Parts: sequence; C-alpha cells; structure tokens
Amino acid sequence: MDKFIISGGHSLKGAVTAGGSKNAALPILLSALLTDEECIIGRVPLLRDIETTFKLLEYHGKKVSFSKGVARIAPHKKLVTEAPYDLVKQMRASVLVAGPLLARFHKASVPLPGGCAIGMRPIDIHITALARLGAKIDNANGNLLLSADKLRGARIRFPFPSVGATENLMMCAALVPGVTILENVAMEPEIDDLLDCLVKMGAEMSREKGGRIRINGVKKLRGVKHDVIADRVETGTYLLAGAATRGRVTVKKSCPEHLASLLEHLARAGVRVSYTADSITVDSSKVRPRSVSIHTEPHPGFPTDLQAPWMSLMCVSHGSGEVKEDIFENRFMHAPELARMGALIAVDGHTAAVEGVPSLSGAEVMASDIRGGAALVVAALAAKGETTVQRIYHIDRGYERMEKKLASLGAKIRRVKG
Ligand code: UD1
Repeated sequence: MDKFIISGGHSLKGAVTAGGSKNAALPILLSALLTDEECIIGRVPLLRDIETTFKLLEYHGKKVSFSKGVARIAPHKKLVTEAPYDLVKQMRASVLVAGPLLARFHKASVPLPGGCAIGMRPIDIHITALARLGAKIDNANGNLLLSADKLRGARIRFPFPSVGATENLMMCAALVPGVTILENVAMEPEIDDLLDCLVKMGAEMSREKGGRIRINGVKKLRGVKHDVIADRVETGTYLLAGAATRGRVTVKKSCPEHLASLLEHLARAGVRVSYTADSITVDSSKVRPRSVSIHTEPHPGFPTDLQAPWMSLMCVSHGSGEVKEDIFENRFMHAPELARMGALIAVDGHTAAVEGVPSLSGAEVMASDIRGGAALVVAALAAKGETTVQRIYHIDRGYERMEKKLASLGAKIRRVKG
C-alpha cells in the first residue's frame, strides 16, 4: 500500500489549479445511462472513484474512453439492469444507478451498499422517494430489487436533504411521465451541476423558489457535452493547507461562491482571504490563525467534507474551539491520529473540543477515509519533523495527484509505493 512521507514545517506558497469535482462527476457520468446517445463529459478528475464509475458504466453496457480529463461514454450493448456487488461495495455512490435504470427499464437490482467507515449511511430516503414514483421495492440476498408496472410523477418531500437521494430522484424523474416536485432537497452545487447537465440532455427540470426542484418528465434524453464544476472540497483542502502552514496559497479555476461558508470561517480565524471570479487566495503568512468553532450542515452551511481538514487547522491555531459533526454519526476517525501528532482533541459523541498547540510533531499515522486522510496531510505539512501517512488509497479516491499539487506549492512530500 502506498504511503506519503511528509517533512513538515514549511509554509506553502504559490498557486495550484482546482480539478473537476468528484462528487459532481459521479452522478453526471452515471446519467449517461439515461440515453442511448454519446455523452462527452469534460474536466473529469482521474481518481479511484471515477475509475470505479467507468467500470460500473462498462459493466452496465456502455463503452467508456478517457483522455486528458474528457470521458466519452458511448452506447455499446444492451444495458444490464443488475449492478455488481464488487463495484457497489467499493463506492457507495454506485447506488445512483438505481434511478436511471428504473426510469428506463422499469426494473433495477442494486446491492445494498452496507455501512462505511464514516457511519451507517442508509439509503431509506432514496427508496421511499422512488416508491412514491411507483416503484415496488424488495430486498433479496442483500440486493435492493426495484420494479414498476407504471411510474408517475409525484410531489415528494425529503425528511432530510440527502445529496445522493436528490440526485437519484432527479435522474429517475427526468424520464417519468408527469410532474415531479422534490421538496427539502439538497442545495449543494453538485446538484445544480447535475441539473444543468440533465437540462442539456433535454430534461425539463428547474430549481424553484425555496430550492425545490420541478421536473416535467420527458420521453427521451439525448447525448450531451458538459464540463464538470470545480471541486470545492479539493480547493478547500489546499486553502486550509496554506492557512495551517502559515503560507499564501491561491487556487485557480475555483469557485468562491461554492465555498462561502469556508471563506467566512477563514476570515473569522484571521486568515486574509481574497478572491476573483474564479480564483481564491488565502494568506496567513503574517498572523497565526485563531481557533474558530464549526458545526457541519447541509449546503450552504459548513461542509462535512471539510470538517476534518478544518480540525487540522484548529489544532495549530491560537485558542480553543469545538467541531460539531451533524451530518455523519462517525466522522472523527482522524482525531486519534491527529492526537498522535500532539494535537489536543477530546471527542464526546458528535462534538470534538480542540485546543490549539504551538506546533504538532511528525508521527506515523493512518488514513481511514478520504477527507480524514486529507486532514492528516494538512496536519503533517504544518507539523515539525517527518510524518508518514499510511493507507493513502483512501486519499487517492478523492484527490488527483495530491503530492504533485502540494509539491508545486513547496511542500516536501513524496509517495512511497508499497
Ligand atoms: C454526498 C457526498 C459526500 C458528502 C455528503 C454530505 C457524493 C458522492 N458524496 O454523500 O462526500 O459528505 O454528500 O454532503 O456526492 N442518509 C440517510 N438515508 C438516506 C440517505 C442519507 O439516513 O437515504 C443520511 C446519511 O447516512 C448521512 C446523511 O444522511 O448521515 C447525509 O447523506 P447524503 O446527503 O445522502 O450523502 P451522500 O449522498 O452519501
């Protein structure tokens, strides 16, 4: 298993370019299942989860080619409606094939994704909402079986604005006769990117006042050429690495609007933040950041995917504060690893109290999920001495060429193949 060796304590300086959003690319690539025409998706980051998505599309009957960030998904053979456990267990987002397959073939079989390191993550909201469109739901041998004689549009109010359930329902309802209105849905920018892509494919779909999504089902969708938005989580991670190392970092081709909550919290921490329409700069070269508490919320609140790297910044900030994780039930696995580096963190249920220390020290640590792994890298860059981050295959699921991007900012980081 590959690992990173990081010699910390050097301020990051310079500029990197944001990659395309993993979380937007996954549903957009899968929406190719909604059409028999070619879909050309640009600014796709080459990540483990994207490769899993390509395999999933190929398994279902598409032909995928990928070059220089552009994925071409072409019709190939008759589509298969049963998703394979081997791929679904690698990536929870695979459950997003359910909506498109159900809409097109009135049947789908998807292995239940099971738990994952950051919590139970059930799919009850997806299932209940698909049932409201007319799907019959069964569970056999660990598989979710969906079938329908007839699907029809419905008004559906989600009990929680689940990102995945919103995407699954948008893709399904795009081809379901009648009007579907989705209420209390996710407001994340990745949802609107999927919406834009579906509209280009011929879907009749819009965001209405208050955030609800209105869909008028159409008979057929066409191929599309679409570029994915910038990855706000990757962008935020590099900005936090800049702030934690008392550096000055610019992320180009990023979207400040999508990171409003993070930027506001950084400014409150005393980090100088400036931005243009498509780049963001943080500068903490002249002042040690102050600790600022966060609690995670659905967008536009503080994103759960930046909770862990924010905690790393708090570990080296002046003063103390709290991190409250309100989206996932078990998302503090990075805390004991940060403690190995000298961080002062006390976890109590969904809350972690963090007391900043003047500096962390290098240690052997282990990543256990994508963003927790990124947090260890941020801490290692700020720490004195050498840190080894094990199990970076988690980080590779969500960050493209992380070590190259960080090295271009002056980080002393290398990958050791194993
Ligand atoms: C997506 C993102 C992930 C991000 C999360 C929240 C992708 C590929 N992943 O994950 O990076 O951290 O949004 O912003 O886009 N829940 C239920 N029942 C359901 C669905 C969700 O109880 O049917 C719960 C989950 O267990 C979790 C919370 O709702 O506690 C948020 O889940 P959801 O918004 O669905 O996140 P994902 O789509 O899985």
